[in-house]
Amino acid sequence: MKVGFDPSRCSVSALNSLTASTPIITRRAFITRIAQTGGAAAAWAALDALGATPLAIGADHQYPGAPALPAGIGRGKKITIIGAGMAGLVSAYELGKAGFSCTILEARSRPGGRNWTIRGGDKIVQTDGSQQALWPTAPHLYFNVGPARIPHHHHAVLDYCKQFNVPLEIMMNDNRAALFQDDAAFGGKPVQAKQVINDMRGNLSELLAKAMSGGRLDGAFSKEDRERLSGMIGAFGDLKADGKYAGSDRAGFITPPGAALAAGKHREPLSLSELLKSDFWQFKASFGEGPEQSSTMLQPIGGMDQIPRAFAKRLAKVIRYDCVVDEIRKTVNGSKDGAKVVFRQSGRAATMIESDFVICTMPLPVLAKVPNDLAPEYKKAIAECAYTKPAKIAFYTPRRFWEEDNAIYGGMSWTTREITQILYPSHGIRRRDGVLVGSYTFGLAPGDDMSQFSVQDRIAKAIASGERIHPGYATMVKNGVSIAWPNVPHNLGGWAGWTDDQRATSYRTLLAPDGAIYLAGEHLSYVTGWQEGAIRSAHRAVEMIGKRVQA
Ligand code: PHE
Repeated sequence: MKVGFDPSRCSVSALNSLTASTPIITRRAFITRIAQTGGAAAAWAALDALGATPLAIGADHQYPGAPALPAGIGRGKKITIIGAGMAGLVSAYELGKAGFSCTILEARSRPGGRNWTIRGGDKIVQTDGSQQALWPTAPHLYFNVGPARIPHHHHAVLDYCKQFNVPLEIMMNDNRAALFQDDAAFGGKPVQAKQVINDMRGNLSELLAKAMSGGRLDGAFSKEDRERLSGMIGAFGDLKADGKYAGSDRAGFITPPGAALAAGKHREPLSLSELLKSDFWQFKASFGEGPEQSSTMLQPIGGMDQIPRAFAKRLAKVIRYDCVVDEIRKTVNGSKDGAKVVFRQSGRAATMIESDFVICTMPLPVLAKVPNDLAPEYKKAIAECAYTKPAKIAFYTPRRFWEEDNAIYGGMSWTTREITQILYPSHGIRRRDGVLVGSYTFGLAPGDDMSQFSVQDRIAKAIASGERIHPGYATMVKNGVSIAWPNVPHNLGGWAGWTDDQRATSYRTLLAPDGAIYLAGEHLSYVTGWQEGAIRSAHRAVEMIGKRVQA
Protein backbone atom coordinates (compact mmCIF):
# COMPACT_ATOMS: atom_id res chain seq x y z
CA MET A 1 0.00 0.00 0.00
CA LYS A 2 1.29 3.43 -0.92
CA VAL A 3 0.65 6.19 1.56
CA GLY A 4 0.57 9.68 0.08
CA PHE A 5 1.34 13.06 1.58
CA ASP A 6 -2.17 14.37 1.48
CA PRO A 7 -3.82 13.56 4.81
CA SER A 8 -7.30 13.91 3.34
CA ARG A 9 -6.53 11.09 0.90
CA CYS A 10 -4.79 9.02 3.53
CA SER A 11 -7.71 7.19 5.04
CA VAL A 12 -7.49 6.00 8.59
CA SER A 13 -9.38 2.79 7.81
CA ALA A 14 -6.82 1.94 5.14
CA LEU A 15 -4.10 2.42 7.70
CA ASN A 16 -6.01 0.24 10.15
CA SER A 17 -6.16 -2.61 7.68
CA LEU A 18 -2.48 -2.14 7.07
CA THR A 19 -1.85 -2.53 10.80
CA ALA A 20 -3.90 -5.69 10.92
CA SER A 21 -2.10 -7.27 8.02
CA THR A 22 1.40 -6.45 9.23
CA PRO A 23 1.65 -7.97 12.67
CA ILE A 24 5.20 -9.18 12.29
CA ILE A 25 6.92 -5.82 12.64
CA THR A 26 7.07 -3.63 15.71
CA ARG A 27 4.97 -0.51 15.90
CA ARG A 28 8.08 1.68 15.81
CA ALA A 29 9.46 -0.04 12.71
CA PHE A 30 6.07 0.17 11.10
CA ILE A 31 5.73 3.91 11.69
CA THR A 32 9.29 4.49 10.54
CA ARG A 33 8.56 2.63 7.34
CA ILE A 34 5.43 4.71 6.71
CA ALA A 35 7.39 7.90 7.38
CA GLN A 36 10.01 6.82 4.85
CA THR A 37 7.52 6.15 2.09
CA GLY A 38 4.77 8.61 2.90
CA GLY A 39 6.48 11.34 4.90
CA ALA A 40 5.68 12.87 8.26
CA ALA A 41 2.03 13.46 7.43
CA ALA A 42 1.41 9.79 6.72
CA ALA A 43 3.31 8.73 9.82
CA TRP A 44 1.21 11.07 11.91
CA ALA A 45 -2.01 9.70 10.42
CA ALA A 46 -0.81 6.17 11.17
CA LEU A 47 0.00 7.07 14.76
CA ASP A 48 -3.41 8.61 15.05
CA ALA A 49 -5.07 5.49 13.66
CA LEU A 50 -3.24 3.49 16.32
CA GLY A 51 -4.48 5.91 18.95
CA ALA A 52 -0.86 6.78 19.64
CA THR A 53 -0.80 10.53 19.01
CA PRO A 54 -0.67 12.49 22.26
CA LEU A 55 -4.36 13.41 22.27
CA ALA A 56 -5.61 11.63 19.16
CA ILE A 57 -5.88 15.09 17.63
CA GLY A 58 -5.04 14.01 14.14
CA ALA A 59 -3.74 15.72 11.07
CA ASP A 60 -5.16 19.11 12.06
CA HIS A 61 -2.17 19.58 14.27
CA GLN A 62 0.66 18.90 11.91
CA TYR A 63 2.95 21.79 11.32
CA PRO A 64 6.54 21.07 10.47
CA GLY A 65 7.46 24.75 10.89
CA ALA A 66 9.31 26.93 8.43
CA PRO A 67 12.11 25.14 6.58
CA ALA A 68 15.25 25.23 8.69
CA LEU A 69 17.94 26.32 6.22
CA PRO A 70 21.54 25.89 7.37
CA ALA A 71 22.90 29.18 8.68
CA GLY A 72 24.74 31.28 6.15
CA ILE A 73 23.88 29.23 3.04
CA GLY A 74 22.53 32.33 1.37
CA ARG A 75 25.63 34.45 1.82
CA GLY A 76 26.46 36.32 -1.38
CA LYS A 77 23.16 35.36 -3.03
CA LYS A 78 20.61 37.97 -4.03
CA ILE A 79 16.88 37.37 -4.25
CA THR A 80 14.24 39.72 -5.60
CA ILE A 81 10.80 39.10 -4.19
CA ILE A 82 7.83 40.63 -5.97
CA GLY A 83 5.06 41.55 -3.55
CA ALA A 84 4.98 42.26 0.21
CA GLY A 85 1.88 40.18 0.84
CA MET A 86 2.06 37.25 3.21
CA ALA A 87 3.98 35.01 0.77
CA GLY A 88 6.57 37.68 -0.01
CA LEU A 89 7.05 38.72 3.61
CA VAL A 90 7.48 35.15 4.82
CA SER A 91 9.91 34.35 1.98
CA ALA A 92 12.08 37.39 2.78
CA TYR A 93 12.00 36.74 6.49
CA GLU A 94 12.99 33.08 6.26
CA LEU A 95 15.59 33.55 3.50
CA GLY A 96 17.07 36.50 5.36
CA LYS A 97 17.68 34.26 8.37
CA ALA A 98 19.79 32.00 6.15
CA GLY A 99 21.92 34.91 4.94
CA PHE A 100 20.28 35.64 1.59
CA SER A 101 20.20 39.27 0.57
CA CYS A 102 16.54 39.93 -0.25
CA THR A 103 14.76 42.89 -1.79
CA ILE A 104 10.98 43.02 -1.82
CA LEU A 105 9.43 45.19 -4.52
CA GLU A 106 5.99 46.23 -3.34
CA ALA A 107 3.66 48.19 -5.61
CA ARG A 108 1.78 49.84 -2.74
CA SER A 109 2.95 52.00 0.10
CA ARG A 110 1.88 49.43 2.68
CA PRO A 111 2.70 45.78 3.32
CA GLY A 112 0.13 42.96 3.42
CA GLY A 113 -1.32 42.69 -0.10
CA ARG A 114 -4.81 41.27 0.32
CA ASN A 115 -4.32 41.44 4.07
CA TRP A 116 -5.68 44.95 4.20
CA THR A 117 -7.31 46.78 7.08
CA ILE A 118 -9.15 50.07 6.54
CA ARG A 119 -9.51 52.63 9.32
CA GLY A 120 -11.14 56.05 9.58
CA GLY A 121 -9.58 58.51 7.14
CA ASP A 122 -8.07 55.87 4.86
CA LYS A 123 -8.25 56.44 1.12
CA ILE A 124 -9.31 53.62 -1.15
CA VAL A 125 -8.29 53.63 -4.80
CA GLN A 126 -9.91 51.19 -7.20
CA THR A 127 -10.00 50.98 -10.96
CA ASP A 128 -13.58 52.25 -10.71
CA GLY A 129 -12.93 55.29 -8.56
CA SER A 130 -11.69 56.55 -5.21
CA GLN A 131 -13.34 56.54 -1.80
CA GLN A 132 -12.48 57.54 1.70
CA ALA A 133 -13.53 55.90 4.96
CA LEU A 134 -15.25 58.79 6.71
CA TRP A 135 -15.31 57.29 10.19
CA PRO A 136 -13.92 58.40 13.52
CA THR A 137 -10.59 56.81 14.44
CA ALA A 138 -10.57 54.36 17.34
CA PRO A 139 -8.92 50.98 17.83
CA HIS A 140 -12.20 49.09 17.38
CA LEU A 141 -13.25 50.95 14.22
CA TYR A 142 -11.60 48.97 11.47
CA PHE A 143 -12.59 46.88 8.49
CA ASN A 144 -10.66 43.82 7.32
CA VAL A 145 -11.24 43.99 3.59
CA GLY A 146 -9.41 40.75 2.86
CA PRO A 147 -8.69 38.02 5.41
CA ALA A 148 -10.77 38.45 8.55
CA ARG A 149 -10.54 35.08 10.27
CA ILE A 150 -7.87 32.58 11.21
CA PRO A 151 -8.91 28.95 11.73
CA HIS A 152 -7.55 27.31 14.87
CA HIS A 153 -5.52 24.84 12.80
CA HIS A 154 -3.77 27.34 10.54
CA HIS A 155 -0.55 26.80 12.40
CA ALA A 156 1.79 28.72 10.16
CA VAL A 157 -0.13 31.99 10.59
CA LEU A 158 -0.62 31.36 14.28
CA ASP A 159 3.02 30.50 14.76
CA TYR A 160 4.20 33.78 13.24
CA CYS A 161 1.71 35.66 15.44
CA LYS A 162 3.32 34.01 18.43
CA GLN A 163 6.87 34.68 17.25
CA PHE A 164 6.12 38.36 16.67
CA ASN A 165 3.86 38.91 19.69
CA VAL A 166 0.79 39.75 17.64
CA PRO A 167 -1.99 39.35 20.20
CA LEU A 168 -5.06 37.43 19.07
CA GLU A 169 -8.66 37.32 20.23
CA ILE A 170 -11.59 35.08 19.46
CA MET A 171 -13.31 35.76 16.19
CA MET A 172 -16.96 34.77 16.50
CA ASN A 173 -17.69 33.18 13.14
CA ASP A 174 -20.92 31.36 13.82
CA ASN A 175 -23.73 32.78 15.89
CA ARG A 176 -27.04 31.14 16.74
CA ALA A 177 -28.56 34.54 17.51
CA ALA A 178 -27.75 35.87 14.03
CA LEU A 179 -30.43 35.90 11.36
CA PHE A 180 -31.42 34.11 8.18
CA GLN A 181 -33.52 35.97 5.63
CA ASP A 182 -34.94 34.53 2.44
CA ASP A 183 -37.47 36.37 0.27
CA ALA A 184 -38.95 32.98 -0.71
CA ALA A 185 -39.58 31.62 2.78
CA PHE A 186 -41.10 32.67 6.11
CA GLY A 187 -42.82 35.61 4.49
CA GLY A 188 -39.40 37.09 3.72
CA LYS A 189 -38.94 37.83 7.43
CA PRO A 190 -35.65 37.22 9.21
CA VAL A 191 -35.54 34.18 11.49
CA GLN A 192 -32.89 33.38 14.06
CA ALA A 193 -30.19 30.89 13.12
CA LYS A 194 -30.96 28.88 16.24
CA GLN A 195 -34.49 28.37 14.99
CA VAL A 196 -33.58 27.43 11.42
CA ILE A 197 -30.81 25.05 12.45
CA ASN A 198 -32.62 23.32 15.28
CA ASP A 199 -35.95 23.06 13.50
CA MET A 200 -34.12 21.51 10.55
CA ARG A 201 -32.52 19.00 12.88
CA GLY A 202 -35.79 18.31 14.65
CA ASN A 203 -37.75 17.79 11.44
CA LEU A 204 -35.13 15.49 9.93
CA SER A 205 -34.81 13.53 13.16
CA GLU A 206 -38.56 12.98 13.24
CA LEU A 207 -38.40 11.48 9.74
CA LEU A 208 -35.60 9.17 10.78
CA ALA A 209 -37.45 8.15 13.92
CA LYS A 210 -40.46 7.35 11.75
CA ALA A 211 -38.36 5.20 9.45
CA MET A 212 -36.99 3.40 12.50
CA SER A 213 -40.35 2.74 14.12
CA GLY A 214 -41.79 1.60 10.82
CA GLY A 215 -39.13 -1.09 10.84
CA ARG A 216 -37.56 0.16 7.63
CA LEU A 217 -34.05 0.19 9.11
CA ASP A 218 -34.37 -3.04 11.09
CA GLY A 219 -32.23 -5.14 8.83
CA ALA A 220 -29.32 -2.75 9.06
CA PHE A 221 -28.83 -2.83 12.86
CA SER A 222 -28.82 -5.20 15.77
CA LYS A 223 -31.59 -4.79 18.34
CA GLU A 224 -29.19 -3.19 20.76
CA ASP A 225 -27.92 -0.72 18.17
CA ARG A 226 -31.48 0.08 17.14
CA GLU A 227 -32.24 1.15 20.70
CA ARG A 228 -29.12 3.25 20.88
CA LEU A 229 -29.83 4.76 17.49
CA SER A 230 -33.33 5.75 18.58
CA GLY A 231 -31.78 7.47 21.56
CA MET A 232 -29.23 9.22 19.35
CA ILE A 233 -31.89 10.45 16.94
CA GLY A 234 -34.06 11.68 19.80
CA ALA A 235 -31.20 13.55 21.45
CA PHE A 236 -29.95 14.95 18.16
CA GLY A 237 -33.33 16.39 17.20
CA ASP A 238 -34.75 17.02 20.70
CA LEU A 239 -37.70 14.74 19.95
CA LYS A 240 -40.54 13.89 22.29
CA ALA A 241 -40.74 10.35 23.69
CA ASP A 242 -43.13 9.42 20.87
CA GLY A 243 -40.53 10.38 18.27
CA LYS A 244 -42.33 13.60 17.27
CA TYR A 245 -40.67 16.96 16.92
CA ALA A 246 -42.77 19.60 18.62
CA GLY A 247 -40.24 22.43 18.71
CA SER A 248 -37.35 22.85 21.08
CA ASP A 249 -35.95 25.30 23.62
CA ARG A 250 -32.81 25.19 21.46
CA ALA A 251 -34.72 27.04 18.74
CA GLY A 252 -35.54 30.00 20.99
CA PHE A 253 -38.47 31.18 23.10
CA ILE A 254 -41.69 32.99 22.45
CA THR A 255 -41.95 33.71 26.19
CA PRO A 256 -38.68 33.43 28.04
CA PRO A 257 -38.30 31.46 31.25
CA GLY A 258 -38.00 33.67 34.31
CA ALA A 259 -38.75 33.90 38.00
CA ALA A 260 -41.63 32.28 39.89
CA LEU A 261 -44.25 30.87 37.54
CA ALA A 262 -42.66 31.98 34.25
CA ALA A 263 -41.85 28.53 32.91
CA GLY A 264 -41.08 29.84 29.43
CA LYS A 265 -42.48 28.64 26.14
CA HIS A 266 -40.48 27.89 23.06
CA ARG A 267 -41.45 28.93 19.58
CA GLU A 268 -43.65 26.91 17.31
CA PRO A 269 -41.33 24.97 15.01
CA LEU A 270 -40.80 26.03 11.40
CA SER A 271 -42.37 23.41 9.16
CA LEU A 272 -40.27 21.19 6.95
CA SER A 273 -42.07 22.40 3.81
CA GLU A 274 -41.29 26.02 4.69
CA LEU A 275 -37.68 25.13 5.50
CA LEU A 276 -37.41 23.37 2.15
CA LYS A 277 -38.51 26.54 0.37
CA SER A 278 -35.60 28.44 1.85
CA ASP A 279 -32.07 28.02 0.59
CA PHE A 280 -30.46 28.00 4.05
CA TRP A 281 -29.92 24.25 4.03
CA GLN A 282 -27.79 24.44 0.90
CA PHE A 283 -24.71 25.72 2.73
CA LYS A 284 -25.56 28.64 4.98
CA ALA A 285 -26.90 26.61 7.87
CA SER A 286 -23.74 24.50 7.95
CA PHE A 287 -21.17 27.14 6.96
CA GLY A 288 -19.80 27.27 10.50
CA GLU A 289 -19.10 23.53 10.42
CA GLY A 290 -16.69 23.81 7.50
CA PRO A 291 -13.17 22.54 8.03
CA GLU A 292 -11.86 26.07 7.62
CA GLN A 293 -14.73 27.89 9.33
CA SER A 294 -15.45 26.00 12.52
CA SER A 295 -14.80 27.21 16.02
CA THR A 296 -12.34 28.30 17.32
CA MET A 297 -11.61 31.13 14.87
CA LEU A 298 -9.19 33.91 15.77
CA GLN A 299 -8.28 37.45 14.73
CA PRO A 300 -5.45 39.81 15.64
CA ILE A 301 -6.48 42.50 18.10
CA GLY A 302 -6.66 45.81 16.25
CA GLY A 303 -6.94 44.48 12.69
CA MET A 304 -5.62 41.69 10.49
CA ASP A 305 -2.84 43.94 9.17
CA GLN A 306 -1.07 43.63 12.52
CA ILE A 307 0.46 40.48 11.02
CA PRO A 308 2.08 41.98 7.89
CA ARG A 309 3.05 45.04 9.90
CA ALA A 310 4.93 42.84 12.36
CA PHE A 311 6.86 41.32 9.45
CA ALA A 312 7.42 44.71 7.84
CA LYS A 313 8.96 46.08 11.03
CA ARG A 314 11.53 43.30 10.86
CA LEU A 315 12.06 43.79 7.12
CA ALA A 316 12.29 47.59 7.04
CA LYS A 317 15.56 47.50 5.09
CA VAL A 318 14.31 44.84 2.70
CA ILE A 319 10.99 46.22 1.46
CA ARG A 320 10.90 48.92 -1.23
CA TYR A 321 7.43 50.41 -1.38
CA ASP A 322 5.74 52.08 -4.36
CA CYS A 323 7.68 49.92 -6.80
CA VAL A 324 5.60 48.74 -9.71
CA VAL A 325 7.10 45.88 -11.71
CA ASP A 326 7.12 46.35 -15.50
CA GLU A 327 9.05 43.35 -16.69
CA ILE A 328 10.40 39.99 -15.48
CA ARG A 329 13.17 38.23 -17.41
CA LYS A 330 14.82 35.02 -16.45
CA THR A 331 18.03 35.53 -18.39
CA VAL A 332 20.96 37.61 -17.23
CA ASN A 333 23.52 38.35 -19.94
CA GLY A 334 22.35 35.36 -21.90
CA SER A 335 22.98 32.93 -19.04
CA LYS A 336 20.13 31.07 -17.39
CA ASP A 337 21.55 31.55 -13.92
CA GLY A 338 19.60 34.50 -12.69
CA ALA A 339 16.79 36.88 -13.40
CA LYS A 340 16.15 40.54 -13.78
CA VAL A 341 13.18 42.63 -12.81
CA VAL A 342 12.43 46.03 -14.28
CA PHE A 343 10.43 48.36 -12.05
CA ARG A 344 9.51 51.99 -11.47
CA GLN A 345 9.50 53.51 -8.03
CA SER A 346 6.80 56.15 -7.43
CA GLY A 347 6.43 56.64 -11.19
CA ARG A 348 10.11 57.55 -11.68
CA ALA A 349 12.27 56.21 -14.50
CA ALA A 350 12.52 52.45 -14.92
CA THR A 351 15.24 50.67 -12.92
CA MET A 352 16.54 47.16 -13.29
CA ILE A 353 17.47 44.80 -10.51
CA GLU A 354 19.43 41.60 -11.12
CA SER A 355 19.52 38.70 -8.75
CA ASP A 356 20.25 35.00 -8.44
CA PHE A 357 16.59 34.18 -7.91
CA VAL A 358 13.20 35.80 -8.15
CA ILE A 359 10.19 34.84 -6.07
CA CYS A 360 7.11 36.26 -7.74
CA THR A 361 4.06 36.38 -5.49
CA MET A 362 1.91 38.51 -7.76
CA PRO A 363 -1.65 37.29 -8.08
CA LEU A 364 -1.90 35.47 -11.42
CA PRO A 365 -4.25 38.01 -13.10
CA VAL A 366 -1.62 40.69 -12.40
CA LEU A 367 1.33 38.57 -13.48
CA ALA A 368 -0.52 37.72 -16.69
CA LYS A 369 -0.21 41.40 -17.68
CA VAL A 370 3.49 41.82 -16.91
CA PRO A 371 5.82 41.35 -19.91
CA ASN A 372 8.03 38.35 -19.18
CA ASP A 373 10.02 35.59 -20.85
CA LEU A 374 8.55 32.70 -18.93
CA ALA A 375 8.14 29.47 -20.87
CA PRO A 376 4.99 29.22 -23.03
CA GLU A 377 3.44 26.53 -20.79
CA TYR A 378 3.92 28.91 -17.85
CA LYS A 379 2.22 31.78 -19.61
CA LYS A 380 -0.63 29.48 -20.56
CA ALA A 381 -1.05 28.23 -17.00
CA ILE A 382 -0.96 31.76 -15.60
CA ALA A 383 -3.61 32.96 -18.05
CA GLU A 384 -5.82 29.94 -17.41
CA CYS A 385 -6.51 30.34 -13.70
CA ALA A 386 -9.77 32.18 -13.07
CA TYR A 387 -9.90 34.15 -9.84
CA THR A 388 -12.97 34.53 -7.64
CA LYS A 389 -14.63 37.97 -7.60
CA PRO A 390 -15.35 38.75 -3.97
CA ALA A 391 -16.47 42.10 -2.63
CA LYS A 392 -17.09 43.59 0.79
CA ILE A 393 -18.98 46.66 1.92
CA ALA A 394 -18.51 48.31 5.32
CA PHE A 395 -20.53 50.93 7.17
CA TYR A 396 -19.85 53.08 10.16
CA THR A 397 -22.65 52.67 12.70
CA PRO A 398 -23.04 55.24 15.50
CA ARG A 399 -25.03 52.61 17.44
CA ARG A 400 -24.37 48.87 17.62
CA PHE A 401 -28.00 48.07 16.85
CA TRP A 402 -27.36 44.36 16.21
CA GLU A 403 -26.05 44.03 19.76
CA GLU A 404 -28.59 46.30 21.44
CA ASP A 405 -31.68 45.15 19.53
CA ASN A 406 -30.86 41.54 18.59
CA ALA A 407 -28.23 40.39 21.12
CA ILE A 408 -25.98 39.48 18.20
CA TYR A 409 -22.31 39.54 19.17
CA GLY A 410 -20.19 38.67 16.15
CA GLY A 411 -20.99 36.05 13.53
CA MET A 412 -22.95 36.45 10.33
CA SER A 413 -26.54 36.90 9.22
CA TRP A 414 -27.27 35.25 5.91
CA THR A 415 -29.64 36.27 3.15
CA THR A 416 -30.54 35.06 -0.31
CA ARG A 417 -30.36 38.66 -1.51
CA GLU A 418 -27.28 39.76 -3.41
CA ILE A 419 -25.30 40.90 -0.36
CA THR A 420 -25.13 37.22 0.78
CA GLN A 421 -24.33 38.12 4.37
CA ILE A 422 -23.79 40.76 7.02
CA LEU A 423 -20.78 40.24 9.32
CA TYR A 424 -20.88 41.63 12.82
CA PRO A 425 -17.60 42.67 14.41
CA SER A 426 -16.15 40.44 17.13
CA HIS A 427 -14.19 43.44 18.37
CA GLY A 428 -15.51 46.47 20.21
CA ILE A 429 -18.29 44.36 21.74
CA ARG A 430 -20.73 46.59 23.66
CA ARG A 431 -18.99 49.80 22.67
CA ARG A 432 -21.20 52.61 21.51
CA ASP A 433 -20.29 52.57 17.81
CA GLY A 434 -18.86 50.10 15.35
CA VAL A 435 -17.89 49.20 11.82
CA LEU A 436 -20.21 46.65 10.29
CA VAL A 437 -19.53 44.56 7.19
CA GLY A 438 -22.79 45.08 5.35
CA SER A 439 -22.00 42.65 2.56
CA TYR A 440 -19.49 39.95 1.76
CA THR A 441 -20.00 38.22 -1.54
CA PHE A 442 -17.63 35.37 -2.39
CA GLY A 443 -17.86 35.97 -6.11
CA LEU A 444 -17.81 32.27 -6.97
CA ALA A 445 -20.64 32.30 -9.54
CA PRO A 446 -21.06 34.63 -12.53
CA GLY A 447 -24.13 36.29 -10.99
CA ASP A 448 -22.27 36.86 -7.74
CA ASP A 449 -20.01 39.66 -8.92
CA MET A 450 -20.47 43.07 -7.32
CA SER A 451 -17.60 44.52 -9.31
CA GLN A 452 -19.93 44.99 -12.27
CA PHE A 453 -21.87 47.68 -10.36
CA SER A 454 -20.71 51.18 -9.45
CA VAL A 455 -19.60 51.84 -5.89
CA GLN A 456 -22.78 53.87 -5.27
CA ASP A 457 -24.98 51.06 -6.60
CA ARG A 458 -23.23 48.49 -4.45
CA ILE A 459 -23.74 50.56 -1.34
CA ALA A 460 -27.39 51.25 -2.25
CA LYS A 461 -27.98 47.51 -2.71
CA ALA A 462 -26.39 46.76 0.64
CA ILE A 463 -28.65 49.28 2.35
CA ALA A 464 -31.80 47.96 0.66
CA SER A 465 -31.01 44.36 1.58
CA GLY A 466 -29.87 45.25 5.09
CA GLU A 467 -33.29 46.83 5.61
CA ARG A 468 -34.88 43.36 5.21
CA ILE A 469 -32.74 41.97 7.99
CA HIS A 470 -32.64 44.95 10.35
CA PRO A 471 -35.65 47.27 9.93
CA GLY A 472 -34.49 50.89 10.04
CA TYR A 473 -31.07 49.91 8.67
CA ALA A 474 -30.99 52.81 6.20
CA THR A 475 -31.00 55.31 9.05
CA MET A 476 -28.53 53.34 11.19
CA VAL A 477 -25.64 52.78 8.79
CA LYS A 478 -23.43 55.62 7.57
CA ASN A 479 -20.49 56.37 5.30
CA GLY A 480 -20.31 53.10 3.40
CA VAL A 481 -17.22 51.98 1.53
CA SER A 482 -17.19 49.16 -0.98
CA ILE A 483 -14.24 47.16 -2.23
CA ALA A 484 -14.66 44.74 -5.12
CA TRP A 485 -11.44 42.77 -5.47
CA PRO A 486 -11.51 42.50 -9.29
CA ASN A 487 -11.28 46.31 -9.27
CA VAL A 488 -8.39 46.56 -6.83
CA PRO A 489 -5.16 47.47 -8.65
CA HIS A 490 -2.32 44.97 -8.07
CA ASN A 491 -4.89 42.25 -7.24
CA LEU A 492 -7.55 42.14 -9.96
CA GLY A 493 -9.39 39.32 -8.20
CA GLY A 494 -9.96 37.44 -4.98
CA TRP A 495 -8.23 34.11 -4.85
CA ALA A 496 -7.29 31.33 -7.26
CA GLY A 497 -10.16 29.17 -8.43
CA TRP A 498 -8.38 26.15 -9.89
CA THR A 499 -10.58 23.48 -11.42
CA ASP A 500 -9.81 19.82 -10.78
CA ASP A 501 -8.49 19.47 -14.33
CA GLN A 502 -6.24 22.48 -13.91
CA ARG A 503 -4.92 21.12 -10.63
CA ALA A 504 -3.57 18.15 -12.60
CA THR A 505 -2.00 20.29 -15.33
CA SER A 506 -1.43 24.07 -15.15
CA TYR A 507 -1.20 24.15 -11.37
CA ARG A 508 1.57 21.57 -11.45
CA THR A 509 3.44 23.50 -14.12
CA LEU A 510 3.58 26.54 -11.86
CA LEU A 511 4.80 24.53 -8.87
CA ALA A 512 8.20 24.09 -10.52
CA PRO A 513 10.52 27.06 -11.04
CA ASP A 514 11.16 28.35 -14.53
CA GLY A 515 14.90 28.91 -14.51
CA ALA A 516 15.62 31.15 -11.53
CA ILE A 517 12.01 32.30 -11.17
CA TYR A 518 9.81 30.77 -8.49
CA LEU A 519 6.14 31.52 -7.96
CA ALA A 520 4.58 31.57 -4.51
CA GLY A 521 1.25 32.56 -3.00
CA GLU A 522 -2.09 31.08 -1.96
CA HIS A 523 -2.65 30.18 -5.62
CA LEU A 524 0.06 27.53 -5.32
CA SER A 525 -1.54 25.72 -2.43
CA TYR A 526 -4.60 23.65 -1.66
CA VAL A 527 -5.55 26.26 0.94
CA THR A 528 -6.56 28.85 -1.65
CA GLY A 529 -8.08 32.03 -0.30
CA TRP A 530 -6.27 31.77 3.01
CA GLN A 531 -3.11 33.31 4.43
CA GLU A 532 -2.06 29.83 5.51
CA GLY A 533 -1.88 28.76 1.88
CA ALA A 534 0.31 31.75 1.00
CA ILE A 535 2.68 31.03 3.89
CA ARG A 536 2.95 27.30 3.20
CA SER A 537 3.64 28.04 -0.45
CA ALA A 538 6.35 30.55 0.56
CA HIS A 539 7.93 27.93 2.81
CA ARG A 540 8.06 25.58 -0.13
CA ALA A 541 9.78 28.17 -2.36
CA VAL A 542 12.29 28.89 0.43
CA GLU A 543 12.99 25.19 0.81
CA MET A 544 13.48 24.67 -2.93
CA ILE A 545 15.89 27.59 -3.18
CA GLY A 546 17.74 26.37 -0.08
CA LYS A 547 18.22 22.93 -1.65
CA ARG A 548 19.31 24.44 -4.94
CA VAL A 549 22.07 26.60 -3.49
CA GLN A 550 23.37 23.64 -1.50
CA ALA A 551 23.41 21.28 -4.47
N1 PHE B 1 -10.86 32.68 3.49
C1 PHE B 1 -11.91 33.51 2.98
C2 PHE B 1 -13.13 33.47 3.89
O1 PHE B 1 -13.13 32.88 4.90
C3 PHE B 1 -12.23 33.20 1.57
C4 PHE B 1 -12.77 31.86 1.32
C5 PHE B 1 -14.14 31.66 1.45
C6 PHE B 1 -11.96 30.84 0.92
C7 PHE B 1 -14.69 30.41 1.20
C8 PHE B 1 -12.47 29.59 0.68
C9 PHE B 1 -13.86 29.37 0.83
O2 PHE B 1 -14.13 34.03 3.63
